[in-house]
Amino acid sequence: MKLIKCLLIMASISMLGLTPGCKGTSKDSGPSFDQIVASRRSVRQYDPDKKISEAEIRTLIQTTIEAPSWANNQPVRYYAAISPEKVAAVRELLGGNNQRNTADAPVLIVSTYKKGGSGFFRGQAANEIGDGWGAYDNGLSNAYLILKAREMGFDTLIMGIRDSQGLRSLLGIPEEEEIMAVISVGYRVQDPNRPARKNIDEIAVFF
Ligand SMILES: Cc1cc2nc3c(=O)[nH]c(=O)nc-3n(C[C@H](O)[C@H](O)[C@H](O)COP(=O)(O)O)c2cc1C
Repeated sequence: MKLIKCLLIMASISMLGLTPGCKGTSKDSGPSFDQIVASRRSVRQYDPDKKISEAEIRTLIQTTIEAPSWANNQPVRYYAAISPEKVAAVRELLGGNNQRNTADAPVLIVSTYKKGGSGFFRGQAANEIGDGWGAYDNGLSNAYLILKAREMGFDTLIMGIRDSQGLRSLLGIPEEEEIMAVISVGYRVQDPNRPARKNIDEIAVFF
């Protein structure tokens, strides 16, 4: 009975375009993976009134620990600016339109990877990609982070236009780490449009 009631509620809520969850039933709570993927967008305007706690950011980063990496090297590191002062200081180091677009984001996370591990076998680059495998691991880890963020109701923007030297000195990031993206975390003000995507036959070949 409980499950039937839940399914009826879910059906009516989904007609309103929402993604309900039903705790305490075998179907359990939360949006499906496909719903998370479909509703994730790069968000460039955040709600100034909604804050995010350190505990919530810890949950996000904890999830990334499960991401695969080269030989389980786990080279990715995160520097999370959560105090208003640190967030403002990190924001100053964003380029392009990124400062304006993250003006009200409550959290900015800098993502790095330790060089010289991923892509290496017995101290030598294992193939032509070399240290690029660290960037690969970083991107995979970031994907876990942004999708977990969406599951938790947050929105994100990955930013590659940033002043890496400024970030290094502001946050004390060691030279052994390559600085990759800054990721804003917050709550969307409105639903962004979905930028056009290629179709599957443009990106995949089947043999
Ligand atoms: C590695 C990387 C770097 C990016 N850098 C920026 C950036 O500096 N500023 C920005 O506004 N968006 C940036 N983006 C976001 C992309 O523009 C965005 O993901 C893309 O347009 C697709 O839109 P969607 O994320 O809403 O699906 C970046 C995304 C990636 C993956």
